[in-house]
Amino acid sequence: MRNHHHTHIEFTGTMISLTQTIRVARPIDECFDYAADFRTTPEWDATAYKAKKLTEGPVGLGSRFAVRCRLPLGSIELLYTITEFEPGQLVTLQADSWLFSAVDTIAFEEDQGQTRIDYHADFSFKMPFAALEGALKSGMQGMGKAALRGLQRALEDNNSAPQISSGSATADRLLWPGLAMFSKWGYRRGRKRWLPMSASLKGKRMIVTGASSGLGLATARELAQRGAELILVMRNPERAEAVVKELSAETGNSAIRYELADLSLMADVDALAQRLLEDGKPIDVLVNNAGALFNDWGQTSEGLEQSFALLLLSPWRLTRALHPLLKAAGQSRVVNVVSGGMYSQKLRVDRLEATADNYAGATAYARCKRALTVVSEEWAKNWASDGIVVNAMHPGWADTPGVETALPAFHTLTRFILRSPEEGADTIIWLSAASEAAGVSGKLFLDREPRTTHLLSRTREDPAERVKLMDYLDAFDAAQKAVA
Ligand SMILES: NC(=O)c1ccc[n+]([C@@H]2O[C@H](COP(=O)([O-])OP(=O)(O)OC[C@H]3O[C@@H](n4cnc5c(N)ncnc54)[C@H](OP(=O)(O)O)[C@@H]3O)[C@@H](O)[C@H]2O)c1
Repeated sequence: MRNHHHTHIEFTGTMISLTQTIRVARPIDECFDYAADFRTTPEWDATAYKAKKLTEGPVGLGSRFAVRCRLPLGSIELLYTITEFEPGQLVTLQADSWLFSAVDTIAFEEDQGQTRIDYHADFSFKMPFAALEGALKSGMQGMGKAALRGLQRALEDNNSAPQISSGSATADRLLWPGLAMFSKWGYRRGRKRWLPMSASLKGKRMIVTGASSGLGLATARELAQRGAELILVMRNPERAEAVVKELSAETGNSAIRYELADLSLMADVDALAQRLLEDGKPIDVLVNNAGALFNDWGQTSEGLEQSFALLLLSPWRLTRALHPLLKAAGQSRVVNVVSGGMYSQKLRVDRLEATADNYAGATAYARCKRALTVVSEEWAKNWASDGIVVNAMHPGWADTPGVETALPAFHTLTRFILRSPEEGADTIIWLSAASEAAGVSGKLFLDREPRTTHLLSRTREDPAERVKLMDYLDAFDAAQKAVA
């Protein structure tokens, strides 16, 4: 890594100024898009730990951000407003807080195949804190330098693919600590070791199923914000219109559209796949997120048990049908959203389609999610040579409409430790977007970390059962085709 930065700090009596230059081997537009979106500050500035965009529309002139920063004592909220915005060239942000105000100017220039970024900041402390300037000068200098080094590292984007940490491996072996990680505490713990995610998603075509609420909606919102071209699969036309409208307005991304399908119906799945195949455009990311826990046994109008239809056969059939488009992308990703509930169940192919007697919704659900995890591993092997990576993830326990309706008692009991939909969706987004996630396949993730697929030894299946699963689904496909 080259370290071409130099800093100098001036103390002018009423103001502290910081000037620093970094160079990155990355296209200028990608550097500009990342740095101008101040939602990214927690990824590169160690003092910032929370940031959000306050205004609607694309990042541009007048966009405002709230950034929460640590102080030696407590924290402070900085309100940033973009006051100058020349894409690919210059962005100026005015910061305001009770302690100081600042003007940050970031200039971008192409420099021998690299992007040169000149950062200049002027801080002025508010009365009566102006007297502190002398004392704070060297601290500000250190923080400024560190932040710019952080920005450089974030833009270099050469994180290595993650391994499970020894702490998480131990937690999984001990079962209860492993389960505790499903709560929002797991997310908070995980977040501490996450690396910046600066990959540009412009021009990447991504499909998210079940984008009308919960995790799917949170995923779609973030991917939209990062500039991906999105196809959102939903089943209710009014809701679909509203979601696309809302996300476009919020993010300024106009490359968002929807496709209608009731994913528990194979005729709808096939028709959806057919439309996408006719369209012919390569698919970079497919997120199989749609799902539900059915407390009562039921069959779809096609005569399939509904948990099996929606949670297993549907993503299986859709992904297989879209294989040519995934392959055509050259390098693509499939993300299967499973559930920690699957840890309770062993793969039993003869029990995948639950019968009406003895039906337990949570068990049927867990069995299908277990099977989808196995399918992910099998596809990862089979499709490696096609440039397709396939991973499963589980969101932990997140407070979504799905959980509230299907598990009201669980929801009431646990709502204080549940993750937000955004926290639950984080690993879906990371698997879809992060550069280093393209280098892992066939794993089950929680909080951006590959985790064990078995917390209990009694759930480990025979290799023969895995073969049986793939054959069973294949046979299903053939039978369905014969009927149609
Ligand atoms: N929240 C958690 O703690 C948790 C934990 C483990 C796993 N998960 C998994 O995460 C995924 C998302 O769940 P969520 O918690 O975000 O629940 P959610 O808020 O209920 O969202 C589920 C999404 O799936 C869609 N969907 C359901 N049935 C469908 C069908 N037949 N056709 C098309 N779309 C359908 C829903 O669309 P409608 O709006 O039209 O119903 C909705 O968009 C699911 O696969 C779930 O199993 C969640």
